[in-house]
Amino acid sequence: MKRISTGVEELDRALEGGIPQGSWVVATGEPGVGKSILCIHFAYAGLRAGDPVVYVTTEQEFRDVMEQAKQLGMDLAQYAAYNIAWRKEPEELPEIVVIDIFGLLKVARQLTERAREESPEKVRRYAALSIDTLIEAINEAYKILAVAGERGTPERHVRLVIDSMSAFWVDKPVMARKYSYQLKIATHRDNVTALLTSQYAPTTRQAYGFGLEHIADGVIHMWMDEVETAKEVRRWLIIKKMRMTAHETKAFKVRIESGRGLVLEKIS
Ligand SMILES: Nc1ncnc2c1ncn2[C@@H]1O[C@H](COP(=O)(O)OP(=O)(O)O)[C@@H](O)[C@H]1O
Ligand SMILES: [Mg+2]
Repeated sequence: MKRISTGVEELDRALEGGIPQGSWVVATGEPGVGKSILCIHFAYAGLRAGDPVVYVTTEQEFRDVMEQAKQLGMDLAQYAAYNIAWRKEPEELPEIVVIDIFGLLKVARQLTERAREESPEKVRRYAALSIDTLIEAINEAYKILAVAGERGTPERHVRLVIDSMSAFWVDKPVMARKYSYQLKIATHRDNVTALLTSQYAPTTRQAYGFGLEHIADGVIHMWMDEVETAKEVRRWLIIKKMRMTAHETKAFKVRIESGRGLVLEKIS
């Protein structure tokens, strides 16, 4: 079985070399625990290995993702990025296809336009942060990257990052499970390994829609000690689940370092 590097050395070691190819891994946790940084590591490791990346970012512009990455010693700017919000089609095969809020808005508008043509009496309006829009956008990115493989050429391994999924059910957390299923059915491919993030409500520790974990082949949970008691930010990470893997079952202490990113330390 092919293992896909997470980009964090200690985490790969804890996963018998990495995530099994084709898996959908969910990173859960409250704000500030390092989920977005884990996504950056995963994407960067892919680019370095020659894997194209589909990067969905709902919480910040990709420019900010690149800036954060640079601070942590990962230069994403050296790779050819194409934003699906751009008017012009890509001239060459990009290495990163970015889907941000502007790209989702554009796709939502296209879907609404298509719906208008199909039934002008009763037009279905698509929202940017809807699961149907997300699915369409990801499939468009797959098309751009020729994920299915051209005739005669072998399929390439592609990485999919969605940071975060919570944005798609923020006003209806009960839909999380259904939306997660829909998304996985429509965008899962054997040659696509995915990392998706999901936010936990910090007060209740309730998953902001627990649904995503039901479709996950792997769950990496991150948290921090209650800061008022600890009087410092103390971060932790644990692998709750990883299919086909005898993974480390103990938590890691997590540090975030400039020029380096996530540093995991085994607890003794
Ligand atoms: N250059 C840096 N050096 C050290 N720590 C950093 C740096 N950049 C960000 N951080 C830490 O990372 C945190 C953000 O992590 P992030 O992955 O965005 O969290 P999440 O996505 O889980 O909300 C910040 O609150 C800060 O503590
Ligand atoms: Mg984040």
